[in-house]
Amino acid sequence: MKSKASAPAKVILFGEHFVVYGVKAILCSINKRITVTAEKISERKISISSEIGKLILEPDKSILEINSPLKPFYYLANKAIENEDTGIHIEIDSEIPLGAGLGSSSACCVAGAAAIFKLFRKISKEEILELAIEAERTIFENTSGADCTVCTYGGIMEYEKNSGFKKIEDEPNYQLIIANSNIEHSTQSMVSKVKEFKNKNKEEFFKLSNLESKLVEDVLKLVKENKIEKIGEKMNQNQKYLETLGISNNQLREMIKIGQESSFGAKITGSGGGGCVFALTDESDLQNTLKKFKDNNYECFSAKIDFTGLNTF
Ligand code: MEV
Repeated sequence: MKSKASAPAKVILFGEHFVVYGVKAILCSINKRITVTAEKISERKISISSEIGKLILEPDKSILEINSPLKPFYYLANKAIENEDTGIHIEIDSEIPLGAGLGSSSACCVAGAAAIFKLFRKISKEEILELAIEAERTIFENTSGADCTVCTYGGIMEYEKNSGFKKIEDEPNYQLIIANSNIEHSTQSMVSKVKEFKNKNKEEFFKLSNLESKLVEDVLKLVKENKIEKIGEKMNQNQKYLETLGISNNQLREMIKIGQESSFGAKITGSGGGGCVFALTDESDLQNTLKKFKDNNYECFSAKIDFTGLNTF
């Protein structure tokens, strides 16, 4: 018997990095997915196959010994077969660009936890999320949990590290243009970089966090009032705070300039240093914004908010 689950990519609309220190963030999931298929196999092995490679290992290995980006899947499969006399084979299919700040690893952890554990028992979304965050910690210890949460529940939401998430019930019709710098980045190292900034500039970080908090509260009101132009301005403001944290670079700045000149607003999404930027548009400026990125030879695509989240088959 096979068990399948899919989870969406995500965009952090506001509040990346600050969310790690308790500031509220606003996120949404988008219509690009990862699908994980799991099946029991008679041999007591864990085998994982994806476009980035294969991993075949005996169970019960220490997670610290495993040096592979597929480690979260091993963690989940190993936990699932702890008291079972079986092995597991896992296949991953992804439409989400890897290492681009769009939550590919969180979506893997969420779809992986669902597909793997459903082979053995019924499992709630709450428990899937808990397992997904545990699995994500094997590659990114300090995760705020924001990415896995939005990949599980979908839609657009506010998220706070300590109190969890609240869905934003309005279903805004935003179109996001996502442009990929194709500069690889590591979330773990960008989060460490921001920690260094915080330790060296305590007062400034404190001030920025307060400004970000206020900005997020303003945006929550603007979403209710459907004021897309003003939300775009807040994105540009948020980008200035991210610049101060030191997570941008010349190429990202160039891309953001293109986005800001052709749409309502643009900023980095995710940990920065590389990865993606996104521009906020609606039908009126969607094609023009896409064209501007393409004319400058940037890989880009349009995305809509996904209101489904985790899907199991
Ligand atoms: C990464 O997508 C978002 C960060 O805020 C880290 C986190 O929230 O865990 C940079």
